[in-house]
Order: sequence, then C-alpha cells, then structure tokens
Amino acid sequence: MEIIKVNSYEEMSKTAADYIIRKVRQHPEATLGLATGSTPVGTYKRLIEDHQGNKTTYKKVTTFNLDEYIGLSGENPQSYRYFMDSVLFNHLDIQKENTFVPNGTAEDLGEECRNYESKLKNHGGIDLQILGIGNNGHIGFNEPGTSFSSKTHIVDLADSTIKANARFFHTIEEVPTQAITMGISTIMQSREILLLASGEAKADAIQKLLGNGVNEHFPASILKNHPNVKVIADEAALSASK
Ligand code: F6R
Repeated sequence: MEIIKVNSYEEMSKTAADYIIRKVRQHPEATLGLATGSTPVGTYKRLIEDHQGNKTTYKKVTTFNLDEYIGLSGENPQSYRYFMDSVLFNHLDIQKENTFVPNGTAEDLGEECRNYESKLKNHGGIDLQILGIGNNGHIGFNEPGTSFSSKTHIVDLADSTIKANARFFHTIEEVPTQAITMGISTIMQSREILLLASGEAKADAIQKLLGNGVNEHFPASILKNHPNVKVIADEAALSASK
C-alpha cells in the first residue's frame, strides 16, 4: 500500500481527481468503481470542473458503484443511484446506460446480486476502484466479519453504520437496515484501488488499516494483500498513525 499524505480535504480531492482524469485520458474506455458518501464529493466536483473546462470525455467510460440501500428506488433522493446522478453523472457526458448501481428494489435481490457480479465480469472488471472507509473498517458495505471471499451480496448494516449514515436522513428510523454491496473479493479483483480518507473521524480507522495484520474483523485490512493500492489521506486522518 502506498500512502499519499496530503494537507487537507481539498488536496485529497484534487490528488484523487487528477489521478482519475489521467486514467480516463489514457484509457478512454476505462471501467471505474465508484463510492458514495461524503469523502468523494470533492473529487467528483473536480471531475466535473475538469470535464467542463478541459473537455475530458466520459463517453466511453463505464462505472460500477459499490453499493445501494435495499428498499430505495433510484428516484428516492436518499438512494445511492440518485446521489450518483445528481453529484456526478448528470454533469458529465457519460452514457447513463453505462453507469451501474445495484438495484435495491429488484424483485429478486439474490438474482440482482448475481447479475451485478456477471455484468461486472462481462465488462472486463474494474480498472480503478475508488473507496472510502467506514469508522469500523468497512469498505463498500462489507461490515466487520464479512468473508474475504464474498462477492456481491445482501448485508445487514451495522448499528454504527446506520448511526453514521443517519445524517443523510430526517430520522434514524428512515435509514434502511440492509444494502446490496460488492463483496470483498469483488473489490479485490479491481486492477487498481484508491482509498480516500479525510478528517479526524477517520484517524482510528486509518491507524488500524496501516497497523499490523489482515483480519476479517477489520475488512479494509485485506487491501494490504492487493498489489496496487494507494491511500490518499489528509493529516487529520493520519493523526493517530504517527
Ligand atoms: C459508500 C461506501 C462506504 C463509504 C464509507 C465512508 O458507497 O461504500 O463504504 O465509503 O462509509 O463514508 P463517508 O465518505 O461518508 O465517510
């Protein structure tokens, strides 16, 4: 794992966006793995600015998102499909049909997981996966204890994740308790991974990530076994790791 230390959220966002832009310019048919949440919003903003200013094109890019809440349709402003459309896709020249987010309202959710996995395989896998990290070490919605061999699957969200995500809902009762997520082995098959972390709230998680051991109780620790991972973290996120 390579650690790229930056000063601030803005610098993290710029570093990550520059990396993605370079990738897309070199490889216009790239398949990107994308995350939601607060961490990548600044990165996505810079991708949009660059697209508008420098005309980087996403016409042939394909994206696969990590996860989606079960029970929320893409029209629901709290869904990850809605988030991705409004925060990124609607502002790029990407073809909507090339943006994949698991369908959290599929009639047969098990089948949806299997289909998502095979669509990903048919597209040749992910060239560059963007990840955030949960305070409990989750990546995607793979909560502590998830098998490292997991593929796209249905998860019960940890209480700590429900609490952390309640900030996006009116009340905590509205937060879905289940989600579909790419599995750990799905994520590990990406050719390259950028994990982003900013702020003191992530300091413990980053300390554990950089510490010893690879353990299913701290899902992100598996990234140490991946040959091409860069962690872009700001000083506050690295403050417990000195
Ligand atoms: C989001 C996702 C999650 C988040 C993580 C951090 O698609 O898969 O693993 O990356 O919960 O969330 P933020 O960035 O809001 O701190």
